[in-house]
Amino acid sequence: MKIINVVGARPNFMKIAPIVEAMNAHSDKIQHLLVHTGQHYDNQMSQSFFDDLGISKPDVNLGVGSGSHAEQTAQIMVAFEKICLKEKPDLVVVVGDVNSTMACTITAKKLGIKVAHVEAGLRSRDMSMPEEINRLCTDVLCDYLFATDHFAIENLMNEGVSKDRIFFVGNVMIDTLYRFKDKAEKQNMPQKLGLQPRQYATITLHRPSNVDDPEILSGILEAFSQIARDIPLIFPLHPRTKKNAEIFGLSHYFSNSFEKGLIRVMEPMGYLEFLSLNMHAKMVLTDSGGLQEETTILGVPCVTIRPNTERPITCEVGTNYMVGNDPQKILETAAKIMNGVQIKGGIPEKWDGKAAQRIVEYLLKTKQISQSEMR
Ligand code: UD1
Repeated sequence: MKIINVVGARPNFMKIAPIVEAMNAHSDKIQHLLVHTGQHYDNQMSQSFFDDLGISKPDVNLGVGSGSHAEQTAQIMVAFEKICLKEKPDLVVVVGDVNSTMACTITAKKLGIKVAHVEAGLRSRDMSMPEEINRLCTDVLCDYLFATDHFAIENLMNEGVSKDRIFFVGNVMIDTLYRFKDKAEKQNMPQKLGLQPRQYATITLHRPSNVDDPEILSGILEAFSQIARDIPLIFPLHPRTKKNAEIFGLSHYFSNSFEKGLIRVMEPMGYLEFLSLNMHAKMVLTDSGGLQEETTILGVPCVTIRPNTERPITCEVGTNYMVGNDPQKILETAAKIMNGVQIKGGIPEKWDGKAAQRIVEYLLKTKQISQSEMR
């Protein structure tokens, strides 16, 4: 069975790592190639994850880079079509919800190649999110839909997807977290930054809805700076956020050291370094999808600066608070956490570090089924 695994942007790397490892364990039955679209290309946004997670160099890098959604998607499709025609895979595996995920799905399906989507069925119901459009287009086309939780399965069933395309496998991002937790611990990031465990908080913020509008971004940064009067805040800046904060004249909220009322900004961090910080944080303030899941497993409160989530399981059983981007709500929730309000934190079903293994087992089974159907 010849498989092309696709990655493009930062959160994809953590998701593909355990899948590649699980495929390597079946090298007698699976031949696989890794294609990087090049959607993310800076060392800290891409290569550092390969180094941290021990993923071998992509077999192909399409080198597509940044652009508008249409430009980026189109360029990925043109470049990926050539690879599919040359390699003739039996299956393409896509992960997550970035532009690369959708672009490669459409390309492969139009060539009659089967496609599997890992992290299928997540829905925010927010069509202003480019990721929601990517998720819908990807899932409607994919042959195998690997779901992380019961909400995802219900979403797919409600959209009329037949049961035999849906596989409940758990969460590959969490496979990676379990696999690298001890290694991350050894990074000692809090100590390196002179911080005490549970006496600092981390931030990530990069969604267009939060960082592309000057008023919204300034409101959020003002809330952060008030929180920074009580607790040090560390903010590895996404390039989009950095660029916009400069254009909007908001860089005065930032500092390169810990100062009361200012946010300590840093370059985007590697996976292990950031995990090392997050596992000992008092709370994480974020608009990321993956961090809502990681904090649930780490038992660290997560203040999600979004009006909705495609990952409601993290609120149902995990440590996630949805607060939107209203500065007052961000402040109130952070204050609650600072005052020690406990939230129950459980672990979602099948988030046990074995999701990738289950995916590969299903793929091997489906291959056997389709071969016997052909005979
Ligand atoms: C993308 C994903 C988002 C994911 C995020 C993780 C889509 C639609 N969005 O958003 O779901 O959560 O990645 O980071 O696929 N840039 C650099 N260096 C890089 C990459 C990007 O400087 O290596 C800058 C460029 O100015 C670029 C901007 O960041 O235009 C945005 O990059 P892009 O990949 O288009 O979207 P993200 O905001 O990173």
